[in-house]
Amino acid sequence: MNDLAHMRTNYVRSVLSEETAGFDPLALFSLWFSEAKEEGELEPNAMSLSTVNKDGKPSVRIVLLKGLIRNEFQFFTNYSSHKGKDIEQNRNVALTFFWPKMERQIRIEGTVTKIPKEESEAYFKIRPRESQLGALTSNQSSVVVSREELETKFQTLEKEWEGKEIPMPESWGGYSVSPNKIEFWQGRAGRLHDRIVFERKNENWIRSRLSP
Ligand SMILES: Cc1cc2nc3c(=O)[nH]c(=O)nc-3n(C[C@H](O)[C@H](O)[C@H](O)COP(=O)(O)O)c2cc1C
Repeated sequence: MNDLAHMRTNYVRSVLSEETAGFDPLALFSLWFSEAKEEGELEPNAMSLSTVNKDGKPSVRIVLLKGLIRNEFQFFTNYSSHKGKDIEQNRNVALTFFWPKMERQIRIEGTVTKIPKEESEAYFKIRPRESQLGALTSNQSSVVVSREELETKFQTLEKEWEGKEIPMPESWGGYSVSPNKIEFWQGRAGRLHDRIVFERKNENWIRSRLSP
């Protein structure tokens, strides 16, 4: 831990010009996402999801981006979890992607809504059976007595549903984040990073460059 003060990376990998950024942040997101995937970033669709409860208390965790549909960012989770409870109280959320090999960060702010149940069910059906059983077993974010309790419940449900289609739990499903601000950060030498931000005004995106 004594090395922390001396730990630093000089970012020289790429640049982000206005010309590359264009005027459509969703198109730029898709381009950067495909580059992160090609580069072999581990879990390129992992993003931090920040929520805030009604008392202004923030909370952050990683979830997986599972779709960019109708220009909205989708993820799946348990609606009764900590994040689900925060979202019930406050629809404002933020997402962050960090792709270290590309020396890039994307920050998204927006409002979140539940996706239609049929769409959650369509995704639930294509998940591996083990993940379906996991979702059925886990009352996400609640206290469990022990690891054994969880495993026993999993095995019981596995037997109960053997040879049958596993139903999507009532409390499980997708959320969709409608972005109103998207910022692209490209690391540059000397900490003079490129930051280009798009803010939504009605149907248009207003583009600006920010000081690093
Ligand atoms: C790489 C990675 C991917 C994850 N993906 C998801 C996900 O897609 N959905 C989810 O509910 N939790 C996911 N998790 C677990 C969450 O980070 C978190 O532990 C869980 O959702 C409970 O959060 P909460 O108590 O704040 O609701 C993931 C964790 C990691 C490290």
